[in-house]
Amino acid sequence: MTTEIDINTERLESHRFDLDPAAIVQAISELNSGNLVSFPTETVYGIGADAENERALRKIFTAKGRPADHPLIVHLAEAAMMERYARYIPESAWLLAEHFWPGPLTLILRRNKHVSDLVTGGQDTVGLRIPSHPIALALLSQFNRGIAAPSANRFGRISPTTADHVRSELGQSVDVILDGGSCSVGLESTIVDLTSESPRLLRPGGISRAMLAEVLGVRPTVGDASAPRTPGQLASHYSPQTPLRLAEKNTLERIVETQSDRYTFGVLALNNTEKKMKGGCWVSMPRSAELYARDIYARLHELDRGGYHMILVETPPATKDWDAVRDRLNRAAAIDFNTEQKET
Ligand code: TXA
Ligand code: MG
Repeated sequence: MTTEIDINTERLESHRFDLDPAAIVQAISELNSGNLVSFPTETVYGIGADAENERALRKIFTAKGRPADHPLIVHLAEAAMMERYARYIPESAWLLAEHFWPGPLTLILRRNKHVSDLVTGGQDTVGLRIPSHPIALALLSQFNRGIAAPSANRFGRISPTTADHVRSELGQSVDVILDGGSCSVGLESTIVDLTSESPRLLRPGGISRAMLAEVLGVRPTVGDASAPRTPGQLASHYSPQTPLRLAEKNTLERIVETQSDRYTFGVLALNNTEKKMKGGCWVSMPRSAELYARDIYARLHELDRGGYHMILVETPPATKDWDAVRDRLNRAAAIDFNTEQKET
C-alpha cells in the first residue's frame, strides 16, 4: 500500500528504527474518531488526542488519572500553527521557534478563545511545541490540528521513554501505540513562559537556560512557586513506586556496605563509584548529563520492577548541565507518604 505519509528519513536514521506508514494512517483515523494515540517524541512518549475534541481530551485525564485542572501541551506540525491556538505571539516566540523547533522546547503563550479549558487547565495560557521525532512529525503533519499530549504515564509516575513502558502502564487505555524506539533526549521538554514581561523558565530540559539566553538576549528567570500550575509544584513527581533517595557518593557507598545484608537496593551510581554491595542491582550511569538524561527513566523503570526495598541514586553534579536531571531526581525523591500527592 502506498500512502502520502511524509517521513524524514534522515531523522529516522538517527533514531534507528523502522516505521510502518500504515500505522500512522491508523493513528490518524483513531485521532479523527476521538480516540487516544501514543506516539514517540524525542523527549518522552506522549498520549495524544485531538486538541479540539473535548470528548477525546477527557479520555486523556481518565487514562492518566490526572486532575482536570492540569494543562496539556498542544503539539504542532509547524510554527505558523501557533496562531491557531495563541492570540498574541511575541517576537520572542517566533525567535525561539525558529531556533529550537522542532525540538524539546514548549512555549507558554496567551490562548486563543476557542482553546478548550481542558487543554489550558482553565488558565488564560496555552503550551505549544513541535517535537522533532520523525514519527511525531509525520503524525502531526498528516493531522490538520494540534495534538494535545501529556507524557504517557499514570499521574505522578515516571515518564515513558520506550513503547514498552507505555504498553505496560497505559496499554489498556490507548487505541494505538506508535513504536519509535528509545527517546533520544529522555527528559520532558524545557518549558518557557512568554506571557509575562520577561521570559520565565518553568521546567528545565534539553534546551538549557544558557541556550535560551543566547537567542533571547536575556537570561530567563526561574519560575516561582506562585505561578499557576507550573510543572512540579507538588512535592512529588516522576516517581517510581519504590522509595527513592538521593545520596552523595560517600554516603551511598557507606549505606550499601553496611545495610545490604538486611535490605536490597537498586543503585544508580555514577561510573567511578565503587560497588560494595552483595545483592540488589547496581547500575553504573554515564558521567555525561546528556547520556545520563537519555537513560534515566528506562533505568528507573527497570529498578522499580526489581522489587527492591529502596532505589538509591548518587547525587548528580551541581553544575548547570545537570539542571534538568537534578530537577527530576529531586522530585522523584520527594515522595510524601502522608498525602501521596503527585503531579505528572
Ligand atoms: O516533553 C514533553 O513536554 C512531553 C512530550 C510528550 O511532549 N510532554 C509532557 O507533558 O511532559 P506533561 O503533561 O506530562 O507535562 C507538561 C507540563 C505540565 O506539568 C503542565 O503543568 C505544563 O506542562 N503546562 C502545560 N500547559 C501549561 C500552561 N498553559 N501553563 C503552565 N504550564 C503548562
Ligand atoms: Mg508528565
